[in-house]
Amino acid sequence: MNILVIGQGGREHTLVWKIAQSPLVDKLYCAPGNAGIAQIAELIPMPDGFVELADWAETRNIDLTVVGPENPLAAGIVDIFRERGLKAFGPDKRAARLEGSKDFAKQLMVRNDIPTAAYQTFADADEAIDFIKTNNTSVFVKADGLAAGKGVIPGRTIAEATQAVKTILVDRAFGEAGNSVIVEEELIGEEASFTLLTDGSHCLPFVSSQDHKMSHDGDTGKNTGGMGAYSPAPVMTSELHDYVMERVVYPTVEGMAGIGCPFKGVLYVGLMITETGPKVLEFNCRFGDPETQVLLPRLKSDLVPLMLACVEGTLDKHTDVAWHTEAAACVVMASGGYPNPYRTGKTITGLVEASSFDGVTVFHAGTNQDGGNVVTAGGRVLGVTALTDDLKSAIDQAYRGVSAIHFDDAHWRTDIGHRALSRS
Ligand code: AMP
Ligand code: GLY
Repeated sequence: MNILVIGQGGREHTLVWKIAQSPLVDKLYCAPGNAGIAQIAELIPMPDGFVELADWAETRNIDLTVVGPENPLAAGIVDIFRERGLKAFGPDKRAARLEGSKDFAKQLMVRNDIPTAAYQTFADADEAIDFIKTNNTSVFVKADGLAAGKGVIPGRTIAEATQAVKTILVDRAFGEAGNSVIVEEELIGEEASFTLLTDGSHCLPFVSSQDHKMSHDGDTGKNTGGMGAYSPAPVMTSELHDYVMERVVYPTVEGMAGIGCPFKGVLYVGLMITETGPKVLEFNCRFGDPETQVLLPRLKSDLVPLMLACVEGTLDKHTDVAWHTEAAACVVMASGGYPNPYRTGKTITGLVEASSFDGVTVFHAGTNQDGGNVVTAGGRVLGVTALTDDLKSAIDQAYRGVSAIHFDDAHWRTDIGHRALSRS
């Protein structure tokens, strides 16, 4: 098979790394990719539009296109490929609203009795602010649409929540993504994420994982795309797993099919484990980043037939999916300053040495090849990942990898996995 992966981050490097291990693959391409991906796949420039990309896929006899990030999914790339008879892994435009519109996701949850925070949606700032003043309780204010992970603002006081509404609805800090806001009660508990594949009716849950969203140690600083991750996540007990399947996953998949939007692809459920049980914080319509970096190294089975089964509606045939019992940890090395503005173009050294350590794989996120050097090209630069016997040694080994790597102003958290370790 010829396979095309779309995207350029750590998630996509991990996808390409896993797909490259499949005996089914003849030729692997990535658009646009990064310096790490270039070592295992042929990079192609991202054309201007999806139609041009579909043209290219047709001429190269691409058998499967795997879409990494949410933006092309929400913009309908799968629909365009499907109309051309090309197989593309991921939800179509209508199904991708589960991530692309928080109001759509909330309505689906309410209709299907899926546990989530109480909320109201507003397009008018004054109405939102009146609601905040009347309720006078700690909230989260969220832009309805896609805002690159930045559209969620805590509003723990009336002043903070009011400012958040103004930022989104009046200043339009996130453009059209902020045409409406969701004002949602604050949930207290430990976060957990739940990843599964679905073909629109059957579901294949993955092993558990957890990321660290805040930029600095002790979960302080700013919200980021994710500074590290680990798998398994001890917070997700088998009782919780069963509860989430029954109360969240099946009602979501059936609810989407019931309104004529069968969801096919990866469903990522962000949860808060509260005193009264797990509640949904968000849905994502793609693999988490950096959760993918710890999930796919633990998957023993070939990923390619599973993705094909999602497209073809035959996921129920795959009852023998196997996982490594070892644990995985990923430490993200970021450009100094991220998630605020940062500089790029810094030379990275130590990649080969880090990758020579037992169980260590260095996934590239924001990197470029510059002559003979690999240089930084993004906020999150590398995901240094280790797969070893248990979580403690995976974390230690990932940090051993980090200590071998250098680029100017590199920043990483030193406490990845702390919650999981403090449990055991
Ligand atoms: P989201 O993109 O909706 O998952 O929000 C990003 C982050 O904001 C989550 O990972 C949580 O840390 C936090 N968050 C969002 N909604 C809530 C809520 N209702 N209560 C507490 N924390 C929240
Ligand atoms: N790491 C969180 C996400 O991918 O949304």
